Amino acid sequence: MLTISNISKRYGDDLALDHFTLTIKPAQLTVLIGPSGCGKSTLLKLVMGLEEPDSGEIGWHKDIALLSSSLQQRRKIGYVIQEGGLFPHLTARKNVTLVADYLGWSSGKKRKRVEELAELVQLDFGLLQRYPLQLSGGQRQRISLMRALMLDPDILLLDEPLGALDPMVRADLQQDLKSIFQKLSKTVILVTHDMGEAIFFADRIVLMREGKIVQQGTAGEMIDRPVDPFVTRFIQAQQSPLHRLGEKR
Ligand SMILES: Nc1ncnc2c1ncn2[C@@H]1O[C@H](COP(=O)(O)OP(=O)(O)OP(=O)(O)O)[C@@H](O)[C@H]1O
Ligand SMILES: [Mg+2]
Repeated sequence: MLTISNISKRYGDDLALDHFTLTIKPAQLTVLIGPSGCGKSTLLKLVMGLEEPDSGEIGWHKDIALLSSSLQQRRKIGYVIQEGGLFPHLTARKNVTLVADYLGWSSGKKRKRVEELAELVQLDFGLLQRYPLQLSGGQRQRISLMRALMLDPDILLLDEPLGALDPMVRADLQQDLKSIFQKLSKTVILVTHDMGEAIFFADRIVLMREGKIVQQGTAGEMIDRPVDPFVTRFIQAQQSPLHRLGEKR
C-alpha cells in the first residue's frame, strides 16, 4: 500500500499539487488522467523521490519503508518518464542495464534478465545494439519499459508511456502492455490523456484538475454519477471521431 497524504507542491506561482490525497492499493492499476498541467507528472516525480513536497507525506508499505536509504527505496520503483527519457548516446541495451551495471551485476545475470525482458515486451533481441534514434517510437517505448522493469520493482510508474505513437502502434502496444501487467501483477500508476486508454487499463481512474482529485472510481461511475460538471465536460471532450461523425450525419 502506498499512501499519499495531503501533498502540496508549488513551483513559483504554479500550485502543481494542492492538498492531494490518494491511497494506491497493491497489485492494482491506477490511472491518473486530467488536463495538461493538472499535476500528473509532478505526482509521479514526488512518488519517485525526484522532487520533495512542500508539505504532506508519502507513506510506503512496510517492505519498502524498512529500506535504509531513499536510493534503495527508489530501486523498488520502476519509472518510465514522459517522452521515454532514454539516453541518446547509449545503446538500447546500455540504457536498460545502466543501474544493474552500477550495482555490479555479473554479465551473466544481466544477459539473462535482458533476455527475459526482451521476450516479455516482445522486442527483437538484435535491436538492443542500436541507439535510441535508430529505433521507432514503439520500439523505444518497449526499451523504456524494459529499463523500468530491469531491477524487478514492486511499483511501476508510467508517465504517458504510449503518448507519441500513431494510433495503430498504440493499439498494439496497449494490448501488449495489458498482458504484461496481467503477467506481472505489480502495483502500477499510469498517466494518460486518453479516456479510452484509461478505461482499457484501469482498475480505478483518478480524474484530476488543478492539483486536486475531482473524482475517482470507474468510468461508468463518472458517466452515471459525475460529482462535478467538469467530469461530464472532460468525458464529452474525449468523444471519439466516429461518435462525432455519427452526430453530424
Ligand atoms: N520543474 C518545474 N518548474 C516550474 N514549474 C513546473 C515544473 N514542473 C511542473 N511545473 C508546473 O506545475 C504544473 C503541473 O505540471 P505537471 O508536469 O505535473 O502537469 P501534467 O499534468 O503532467 O501535464 P501534461 O499532461 O501536460 O504532461 C504546471 O503548471 C507546470 O507548468
Ligand atoms: Mg505530464
